[in-house]
This record gives sequence, C-alpha cells and structure tokens, in this order.
Amino acid sequence: MIRRARSWLNPVEQPSHRDRIFGALRLGGTPHVLRPTRPAHPEITGLTVRTEAMIGHVTLTIAEVAGPRGPDFDSFVDVCVGVEKELSPDDPPLTPAEIEADYFRPSAHRELRSWLAHRDGRPVGAITIEIPHDANRDELRPDIWVVSDQRRQGIATELLRTGLHPVAEGRSRLGLWVETDAAGAFCRSLGLDHRQVERCSRLSVSDIDHRELQRWVEQAPARSEGYRLVSWQGPCPDEHMDAFCVAYDAMADIPLDDVEHRHTPLTPRDIRDKERAMADSRTPIVSLVLAPDGAAAGLTVLWANHSRPFLAEQDDTGVLPDHRGRGIGRWLKAANLSQTLADHTELRVIETYNAESNPWMLAINVDMGFRPHKAYHAYQGPLPEQLLDGRA
Ligand SMILES: CC(C)(COP(=O)(O)OP(=O)(O)OC[C@H]1O[C@@H](n2cnc3c(N)ncnc32)[C@H](O)[C@@H]1OP(=O)(O)O)[C@@H](O)C(=O)NCCC(=O)NCCS
Repeated sequence: MIRRARSWLNPVEQPSHRDRIFGALRLGGTPHVLRPTRPAHPEITGLTVRTEAMIGHVTLTIAEVAGPRGPDFDSFVDVCVGVEKELSPDDPPLTPAEIEADYFRPSAHRELRSWLAHRDGRPVGAITIEIPHDANRDELRPDIWVVSDQRRQGIATELLRTGLHPVAEGRSRLGLWVETDAAGAFCRSLGLDHRQVERCSRLSVSDIDHRELQRWVEQAPARSEGYRLVSWQGPCPDEHMDAFCVAYDAMADIPLDDVEHRHTPLTPRDIRDKERAMADSRTPIVSLVLAPDGAAAGLTVLWANHSRPFLAEQDDTGVLPDHRGRGIGRWLKAANLSQTLADHTELRVIETYNAESNPWMLAINVDMGFRPHKAYHAYQGPLPEQLLDGRA
C-alpha cells in the first residue's frame, strides 16, 4: 500500500519486482518520454476543479472524483488496484472498501480530495491529497498512481498541479512516502528532500512462537508491580477513552529523523471519528496498560481487515516515559496479538511500519518474528512553485 496514510530501504525487495517497474519504463529500449505540450490549466466549477493538458496530440482530462458514490469512483479504484497489484504482486488486491476508508473518509483532522486522469477515454492516473487540519496544517500529502504504460509523460506532474490548485493556499510543505526508485526520482524532480527510511515488516502467523509470547505476558516485570492490562476489539469502551488519549501521547516520542511533523494529541472525538471512518473496512484491536494508580501507561492498536482477512495492520504502540523499562511494550504486543489470533482464524500476515532509526520498537518486532518486507522513503520540501502558477 502506498503508505499510507502512513508512512521507508528495502533490503528484501525482490529483483523481479524492480524489473517489472523499470521494465515498463524501458519500452522500446529507451524511456518513452513525451512531455505535455500544454500544461493543465485549471477551470473551477463550483467546488470542483477540472483541467485539460495536451500530451503530444492527445488530451489528458483530469476531473475531481465526487466521492465513493460518484461516477468516477470505480475507475479510480481500477487505477489504484492496478498499480498496487504491480507493487505487491503476491497480495490479494486492494478492495473498494479499503480505498473508500483510506481516501474518501475525511475526519475532523484531515480533509481528502481526489482526481482522476483520462487519456483517450481511458483512466490512466489518480491522485488523492490529504489536507491535515491538525498540528501539521502547513503540509499537503499526496498519493499518486499512474498506470505502468503511461509513465514518464508528465501525468503525475499534471495530476499534482491540478490537485494543488484549490488547496495550496496557506500551505507551505509537501510530504510523500514512497516505495519505488521511480517515485523517489519523481519526488526529487519536485525539489523535495529525502528525510527518513521506514521499514515495512511482516510477521507470518506460522512463524509465531506462542510460548515466547506467553512468557512476555506472564513475566512482564510491570505485572508484579501492580500494573494491569485491559483489551478490547471494536469501539473503545467509554471508561477507557481518557486513558487511551493520554497513552497516545507516547507517540510524541517516535523518531522522526529529518521529517517535519508535530504530534497532535488525541481526543475522544478523534477516536470515535476514526472508528466510524474505518467501520466498514477494519476493526481496531486494542490493549492498554494502566499503572497501579489507574493512570495510563501504554497502548497498542492492531487493525483486522474485513475484506482481506489474511492481513492485519499493527499500528501505534507506545509506552509513556515514566513507565518505560518494565517490559510493558512486549506485554502489550504479545497480549494484543494473542487476542487477535484467538478470534481471527483467517489471519496469515501482520504488517507494521517502523523508522529504521527506532531500534527499541524494531528489537521487539524482530523478537516477535517480524521480518523486513519493504522500505518506504519519506520526502518533504516546499510546495513546488512551478506547479502553483494561477493557484486559487
Ligand atoms: C511515481 C509515479 C506516480 C510517477 O508518475 P509519472 O507520470 O511517470 O511522472 P512524471 O512523468 O510526471 O515525472 C515527472 C518527473 O519525475 C522524474 N521521474 C519520474 N519517473 C522517473 C523514473 N522512472 N526515473 C527517473 N526519473 C523519473 C523525472 O524527473 C520526470 O521528469 P522527466 O520525465 O521530464 O525527466 C509513477 O511512477 C507511479 O505511479 N508509480 C507507482 C505508484 C507510486 O509509487 N506512487 C508514489 C507517489 S505517492
């Protein structure tokens, strides 16, 4: 998945995968480079923006995707699913429910807008721009997909020009998390700098050492000091909302390397917002550790996937500074994984993302059996001036 939302060197990237991407760029032995002869000129109709650019003699039409029930949603899904299949050929394809949850469900913290490019009536590229309304309201975060036989002709650039036009006002920074060398080159062409490497690791359920997990739960030093662990699946129980928000502040300490990012404290409303946005596609599975006085000490969140039940995503894990060094991180992860495995029998793979500069979390994950799967690279920099002419 293009991070996602989230968030990367790829020590185990398969040579066949790289060849598939770069093979597509070497049609006819040389890169097929055809630049737009007339760049996109935005026309604003109501709240949407539609642009036309010329690539050679063919018109590229870019129009905003109204939403999951709009006429272009299925074509948007086809473009995303096709490119993602190329990036992760061994995984079952992304589903419309996941795409809707990730790219068409805004929240109080983020707005999302998407466009689709057609060339000769064929959908050839798509973009979603995440517009944060939290502590990072100076940034814009695009995800872009161009179908393999249409690359290197300026389509991603025109998609970005179109998408930035209505949303760039008041924003100063672009941030992208990318996986391929081509995408890295695209980011550098925009003037962005490389800021961080994130490891995407996968744990195969068949590799789990259940006895070791049990030891982590039973022998966590914090247990003998009176700490207790509570777990749930689905919506957060009202009684744990405040502790969940407090524990989430541990995420303020994640290593950022050169990434510009401000931690945004979580509120009960944010929790309910996210639960609602994800309700059709994923179920949160959460464990929280409370100190002897009832104060929040740490949390971990894992998402079970409804439409691709073979895959679960291990999300945030954090222990607040006053409570570190007591085995709480291992306890949380082992207990949460055990409750997940007990109820989600189709689960085969758990995926997680960590900065390469986070030895503490990586050590726990490696001991659990997580192995490097892919690398993602964070790029950031000022909004590219050359794409902002005539902005709204
Ligand atoms: C990354 C991606 C979106 C680029 O789409 P594209 O339409 O080929 O990009 P453009 O043609 O607009 O490229 C603009 C510039 O980026 C750079 N670039 C893009 N692809 C490149 C490549 N394979 N090798 C070297 N430079 C490249 C070049 O400087 C290019 O300008 P030039 O062709 O005049 O030299 C496309 O490769 C893709 O869909 N990849 C898979 C999905 C993905 O990784 N998306 C990441 C973005 S979130």
